[in-house]
Amino acid sequence: MPPVRNESSSFHSEALTFISSLLPPFSALPLPKLLKLIYRLMGCDASVLIASKPGNTSGLAEKDAHDNKNLPVEAFDSIKKAKALVENKCPGVVSCADILAIAARDFVHLAGGPYYQVGKGRWDGRISMASRVSFNLPRANSSVDELLKLFGSKGLNLEDLVALSGAHTIGFAHCEHFVSRLYDYRGTKKPDPYIEPRFLKALQMSCPPFGGNVDVVAPFDVTTPFSFDHAYYGNLQAKMGLLATDQALFLDPRTRPIVVELGKDKQRFFQAFSAAMEKMGSIGVKRGRKHGEIRKDCSVHS
Ligand code: HEM
Repeated sequence: MPPVRNESSSFHSEALTFISSLLPPFSALPLPKLLKLIYRLMGCDASVLIASKPGNTSGLAEKDAHDNKNLPVEAFDSIKKAKALVENKCPGVVSCADILAIAARDFVHLAGGPYYQVGKGRWDGRISMASRVSFNLPRANSSVDELLKLFGSKGLNLEDLVALSGAHTIGFAHCEHFVSRLYDYRGTKKPDPYIEPRFLKALQMSCPPFGGNVDVVAPFDVTTPFSFDHAYYGNLQAKMGLLATDQALFLDPRTRPIVVELGKDKQRFFQAFSAAMEKMGSIGVKRGRKHGEIRKDCSVHS
């Protein structure tokens, strides 16, 4: 049983300072993987970190859902290691959800992005079920209406959707998520007309229509793939969005003005991204023993 936590105690804030001091050794971890992981939480209770129990007949944990099959093993390991170090120093105080949120923030900053506030004092979720995952995730070909509905159901608005999608300024996607745009757009047997021709050719070379290597990935931001900047929005305006959902943000008249605005000004993007990450970090936050737990090991319920 974890000790009762006092969020305002200096013990707790010391623990959090301690976590931040642990992060540099983990900076070798590719940032995108961690950021994607935190986004996948969209509810920020670390339920995605739980591993399925061998032989469990009541269902798989979230981590093992089909939609999470490409989630990065390195990111899980890093969070596990950070948690073990923190537990060693101050057991039962800092949740896995807090560690994940702080780590993602610090990595965004390391990649040149903004340093935003992370609300602390989350508890970890007690439920982790693979069957809940697909309802909560957008598809690479979701319409803007579907994205708005999903984001709206979490309390996120139009601007949050556009700003958070700016996380695709870094990282990579597997061909399976955009290959239909390259050869058979909506059953037309032709490429999506909203792909810049040279960009289309380059993607087609990496991703054949059939029989390609399933491990091949393409960068989301072809211009500056490794820096956290606002180039993503410029790319959308030049028809160089990778996923249909990325490009759709420029095609839809509701989101286009926001794409144009964030594409003009890096500071404006950083401000919108920070605000949206703060909001996302507070979605479905668990507090207290009734709904939450402070895990000792992030992959196992207490
Ligand atoms: C708006 C709807 C979104 C859709 C449809 C979407 C979809 C995807 C897909 C299909 C991938 C590639 C997965 C793979 O091939 O392994 C991906 C990667 C990624 N997503 Fe999103 N995403 C969305 C929003 C977000 C948000 C809000 C964030 C963060 C705040 C985010 C962060 C990332 C990152 C950082 C990667 C790259 C991971 C890597 O390189 O390993 N995404 N996303």
